[in-house]
Amino acid sequence: MTTATDRPTVLVLVGSLRPDSTNRRLAQAALDALPEGVDGEISTLLPSLPHYDQDLDTDSPPEAVRAFRDQVTAADALVVATPEFNGSLPGVLKNAIDWASRPRGAAALAGKPVAVLGASASPKAAQWAREDAVRVLQVAGARPLEQTVGLASAPAALESGDLADDVRGQVAELIGRLVREPLAA
Ligand SMILES: Cc1cc2nc3c(=O)[nH]c(=O)nc-3n(C[C@H](O)[C@H](O)[C@H](O)COP(=O)(O)O)c2cc1C
Repeated sequence: MTTATDRPTVLVLVGSLRPDSTNRRLAQAALDALPEGVDGEISTLLPSLPHYDQDLDTDSPPEAVRAFRDQVTAADALVVATPEFNGSLPGVLKNAIDWASRPRGAAALAGKPVAVLGASASPKAAQWAREDAVRVLQVAGARPLEQTVGLASAPAALESGDLADDVRGQVAELIGRLVREPLAA
């Protein structure tokens, strides 16, 4: 990864708003896996985004939208950590992606490399949500890696306090691939 700024940055979007979220824990593992010299942070702006409304999407959008788009634009790459809600990604994440996918031709998401992670309570490890996130991000103009990492039976898997080494290893491998991607177009 190269960047126009001093240090490359990775922005993490977590699709669950609750503080004790298993996806937040998975996202933290992604931050822990960033190599020396790469900065990363979890966006705190998702809860303040209004529901997408094309009539609000003007040259002066709501302040939260402007701040979120600036945050995405400034990042060299993204990580998305998604729960599975009724077989897909949650509305909060889809809403954030929708805002970042506009305006057409100058979208914050355009060409952005993205790694997708997902934790769910079921043994399927948020597979449908991860697949949908990859498809939605592709349609939105980002460059999601086809490979994703899922954490199955997440509450039980985290009961002992930490992620199992094999999952941590899969996350580290995916993040390694992400930061080797060329700079977003
Ligand atoms: C509205 C709702 C729908 C859900 N639907 C699914 C589902 O389709 N598949 C699944 O595996 N888990 C489903 N779950 C369980 C979530 O995967 C589980 O609560 C998960 O831990 C949430 O992620 P978090 O810990 O990051 O908040 C659902 C939970 C809620 C609240």
